[in-house]
Amino acid sequence: MSCFSCLKCHFEDVKNCDGDLGCSESPGSIRGKDAALSNQMANVARSFTFRELAASTQNFRAANLIGEGGFGSVYKGRLESGKLVAVKKLNLNGSQGNQEFIVEVLMLSLLRHSNLVTLTGYCTDGDQRLLVYEYMPLGSLESHLFDLKPHQDPLDWQTRLKIAVGAARGLEYLHCKANPPVIYRDLKSSNILLDCDFNPKLSDFGLAKLGPVGDHTHVSTRVMGTYGYCAPDYAMSGKLTIKSDIYSFGVVLLELIAGRKAIDMTKKTGEQNLVSWARPFLRDRKKFVQLADPLLEDQFPARCMHHAVAIIAMCLQEQANFRPLIGDIVVALEYLASQVEFSEDHKASTFVSHPSPSMTVLPLQNEQK
Ligand SMILES: Nc1ncnc2c1ncn2[C@@H]1O[C@H](COP(=O)(O)OP(=O)(O)OP(=O)(O)O)[C@@H](O)[C@H]1O
Ligand SMILES: [Mg+2]
Repeated sequence: MSCFSCLKCHFEDVKNCDGDLGCSESPGSIRGKDAALSNQMANVARSFTFRELAASTQNFRAANLIGEGGFGSVYKGRLESGKLVAVKKLNLNGSQGNQEFIVEVLMLSLLRHSNLVTLTGYCTDGDQRLLVYEYMPLGSLESHLFDLKPHQDPLDWQTRLKIAVGAARGLEYLHCKANPPVIYRDLKSSNILLDCDFNPKLSDFGLAKLGPVGDHTHVSTRVMGTYGYCAPDYAMSGKLTIKSDIYSFGVVLLELIAGRKAIDMTKKTGEQNLVSWARPFLRDRKKFVQLADPLLEDQFPARCMHHAVAIIAMCLQEQANFRPLIGDIVVALEYLASQVEFSEDHKASTFVSHPSPSMTVLPLQNEQK
């Protein structure tokens, strides 16, 4: 069995980990808090040998390749137990490395929620770094929104809302239930994975940071994340807050509604950055509906679309303080999802809304005029 030498770094190191800071890998015994952490990890994420993972993926056969990202290649595999997994193999020449690997393993070992992907295990044989996840049969949200294959049906309105609600619940867990809170920092449609019923799970915690505690309002970091999703305030100052994630959530919601990529260099100048392109529509309520993905073919309740765009507009506020909290977003999206009773012949104009429960769609109350 491979040894996970990085466990020798303290959990403190995860707090302090930033892209260019290395966790100490100096030899030393695992004691106290570290030992507890080690036990916890032993319960949840198991250590695999490279040989086991090679066998599970038929020697990383090209036919089993399901994706490629900054960390490395992702393969579908089957463990000896029969369980299907996704095996992510660090590209030893790539830009990401041991740091993201350690944070990913520690974060996913400490966090547990139905809207976060489960880490089955990891491998640290020699130089090799591999991550083993539960297999998500429908892949990433990105692959269901853009560049659809001829056989692929576009996502319908209900499914888009279901995905938005689940992703928001995952983020709510990170911001409000994890203690200390966790700032995800890499929310984007390629990191939202889907199970066979389109239930979404957040993945890729290699950039996640433990949030500010006590009187601190932010944590200072090297600016990391993905262009197009990164909050402008964070990009300019390096001051990371949970509101940075809210901005990224707004971009994902906009991608879901508009069916356009956060950054798309194949579009003409002025349309390549989704948020810049959408700003004029977001400023004028009468234009909200023009943001709708043409692939929806007007098959959505107009009122719900309106509310959803209002939520997006709030999440994308330039000033971080004006962005809503994730708890309010969850409530608002759950309400919108509960409103969807939409039969084939209901067009946008004919949608009938049901009496609302005691809550109101909170973000609309604060919406900028
Ligand atoms: N657990 C999983 N189950 C099924 N498919 C997965 C799983 N994890 C990743 N994938 C597939 O592999 C692709 C690449 O994932 P990866 O996280 O390595 O890169 P990315 O998210 O596209 O980019 P980045 O490196 O910037 O995060 C995903 O888009 C998805 O299609
Ligand atoms: Mg990813």
